[in-house]
Amino acid sequence: MPELSVAVFASGGGTNLQALIDACKRGEFNGKISAVISNNSQAYALIRAASENIPTFHVSNKTHPDPVPFTECLLGILETHSVNLIVLAGYMKLLPPEVVRAYRSRIINIHPALLPKYGGKGMYGLNVHKAVLDSGDKISGATVHFVTEGYDLGPIIIQRTVPVRADDTPESLAARVLEIEHRILPLAVGMFA
Ligand code: GRF
Repeated sequence: MPELSVAVFASGGGTNLQALIDACKRGEFNGKISAVISNNSQAYALIRAASENIPTFHVSNKTHPDPVPFTECLLGILETHSVNLIVLAGYMKLLPPEVVRAYRSRIINIHPALLPKYGGKGMYGLNVHKAVLDSGDKISGATVHFVTEGYDLGPIIIQRTVPVRADDTPESLAARVLEIEHRILPLAVGMFA
């Protein structure tokens, strides 16, 4: 099995990326994070990667307004770094279908709820936790799943639950779920190693 070469796509703070960086340094998976790609040039995830000397790339509809060069740019980065696993860790865009096809069954995503509930377009960030609290559900959790063409639709790899507390706010639930995300995402990557 060739060494795992992971590309992480992130749009925000990158705490899930950091969890992967830390797990890699602890030797929890045999591989390396070869590239971090963001559609947001201000994403703190890019700072986290740069401080570990991981190559970073800002690729977006600002840098590449036309979808064809955009897709070719992504595929070029993935090929240049011999990527064999793509991790979406808070990436707010849909991957181009050409990328999903080229890396079928080698793209995973972390979602802050128990899919198939509370998934799909628009279900990200605090929206997810607000929906869980509004539903009255007594448990929530996080899911790692394979990525297909749509939002949050692929086969589930790992799920783990957390209790919902009566006095929870979306923020307090988000924080409890995020802790679980940081555990199950490195576990899922380890399954590929
Ligand atoms: C996480 O809650 C993840 O489940 C969702 O986006 C958030 C990313 O957080 N997809 P971070 O940027 O990894 O801190």
